[in-house]
Amino acid sequence: MADRTADEIFKEFKEHSIAEFFKKNRQMLGYAGKVHSLVTIVHEYVTNSLDACEEAGILPDITISIKGIGEDKYKVTVEDNGPGIPKNFVGKALAQILSGTKFHRYMQQRGQQGIGAAGCTLYSQITTGKQVSVRSTVSKGKSYSCSIGIETMRNKPIVSNMQDIENGSDHTGLYIEGEFADVKYENSDHGVYEYLKRTALSNPHVQIKLIDPEGKEFTFMRAVNSVPERPIPTKPHPLGLTVNDLLEFAQRSSSRKVSSFLLDTFARVTPNKINEIKGMLTQLDMEKEPQKLTWQDAEELIKAFSRVKWLAPDASYIKPIGAEQIRIALKNILNPEFMNVIERRPAVFRGGIPFIVEAAVAFGGTSGKKTEEGYEGSILRFANRVPLLFDSGNCAITEAVKSIEWKRYGIDLDMQPVSVFVNVSSVYIPYSGVGKEAIAQEDEIIGEIKLALMEAARGLQRYISGKEHMHEEASKYNAVMRYTKQLASDLSSMSGIDHAIIEKKLETLIAKHYQRVAKKEEGSGDAKQEQR
Ligand SMILES: Nc1ncnc2c1ncn2[C@@H]1O[C@H](COP(=O)(O)OP(=O)(O)OP(=O)(O)O)[C@@H](O)[C@H]1O
Ligand SMILES: [Mg+2]
Repeated sequence: MADRTADEIFKEFKEHSIAEFFKKNRQMLGYAGKVHSLVTIVHEYVTNSLDACEEAGILPDITISIKGIGEDKYKVTVEDNGPGIPKNFVGKALAQILSGTKFHRYMQQRGQQGIGAAGCTLYSQITTGKQVSVRSTVSKGKSYSCSIGIETMRNKPIVSNMQDIENGSDHTGLYIEGEFADVKYENSDHGVYEYLKRTALSNPHVQIKLIDPEGKEFTFMRAVNSVPERPIPTKPHPLGLTVNDLLEFAQRSSSRKVSSFLLDTFARVTPNKINEIKGMLTQLDMEKEPQKLTWQDAEELIKAFSRVKWLAPDASYIKPIGAEQIRIALKNILNPEFMNVIERRPAVFRGGIPFIVEAAVAFGGTSGKKTEEGYEGSILRFANRVPLLFDSGNCAITEAVKSIEWKRYGIDLDMQPVSVFVNVSSVYIPYSGVGKEAIAQEDEIIGEIKLALMEAARGLQRYISGKEHMHEEASKYNAVMRYTKQLASDLSSMSGIDHAIIEKKLETLIAKHYQRVAKKEEGSGDAKQEQR
């Protein structure tokens, strides 16, 4: 075959949209494997409902229904009582990849990319050729319905059949119904039921109802009647930025000079700090327009940032679940015999991004997993209250759990009914991929999780060893009691005192001794404080 010239080769040069990219690389969004793909759909819709309700200050009520409509083909509907989506935004919100109300704000929410909902619309379209149906109410009595598809070549929404519904619903909210193929409902550790159960665990303020393909209804009842504090947008700290981040912020800035761009966009930047940075620059002029910053300029700024002594980032914008709420949720869902919940203080990764780790160990009840031989432990991973069910091998939480020698704490994760719970909260969670299924293995995050788990494990160790000791004492008590009859009759024949009186006295004496031992044990160790 004759060699081809550049001109000939480049006749085939084409551009494609982000939607076309994800159409070809759907596994990057979590559409890999049938069971996994169905969980991804439920996850995207449910996280959006939760974010929307909480931003509007509404206690979330979510109903998910999954119906089989063919081989590996299901109709999924999700209905929430959130604020709904205004008619003029519904197309872009649900069918334009990289658009939404969250990705440009530095704020702690579950969604952070503007991809999830449009990804579902795309998946419905490429597996069934269908559009998704939407109904929304943004003010009482006024609803609309429409169908939504995605024009993949241009990454643009297609909105059709728009209809106003007068006398619509008496509460606001969003209802989405879509048909999806190449998906499967399965009752497993990686299925929809488990995903929702874990969502209830990390969100005790939520009421979730699932209607499964057999028509069975499961309700995870709300255990707490207050909406979590509304998330507040904050500014990124200069130490958490990469050169690329800085350039992206600069492109979006409306400031006229680099100095005002830095003051307006980032946390802890003051006029004094600007002067300090100015003194360190050799090339960059702070009067320059931020949109004209070059890579070298940004590099120089980042270098200067690293030499400034900054106030630490403000962690008050991070809202963890809270130890008391975790206790209520664990009790509600796992009903454990013992639990120990640890909330760590805020820490920082990549020099400037604050985060908070919460961890718990629960023992007994329905903790862990039932196996044929007995039990084994389970690891429940969460990021900003969202359960992470897949890609565990790539996750900072798994790495931290693996690095602990559980047996040193008397805990056997292969044999005991133990659930290990970890939630990482941050305004920016460093996911290891766009599918947001695992937390990147940042050293500081792994370190914090490890410390939290070791503390939680120590509590369980005290409880288990106390329990073992009590068990030993109980067997000793039973053994001693077995001899009382014989001893009483021997003493009676030696002393002439009535056998029954001696036996009663002996029994009281022994019981008193063992009650004293038990009381002493109850008083020792914090573990008992956590015991339900
Ligand atoms: N149930 C809902 N109620 C109200 N608004 C919603 C709802 N679902 C989606 N939206 C809006 O649609 C936008 C796009 O949602 P999408 O899931 O695609 O992105 P995201 O949640 O912003 O980020 P991510 O891709 O990380 O999930 C959201 O930012 C939100 O503004
Ligand atoms: Mg989302």
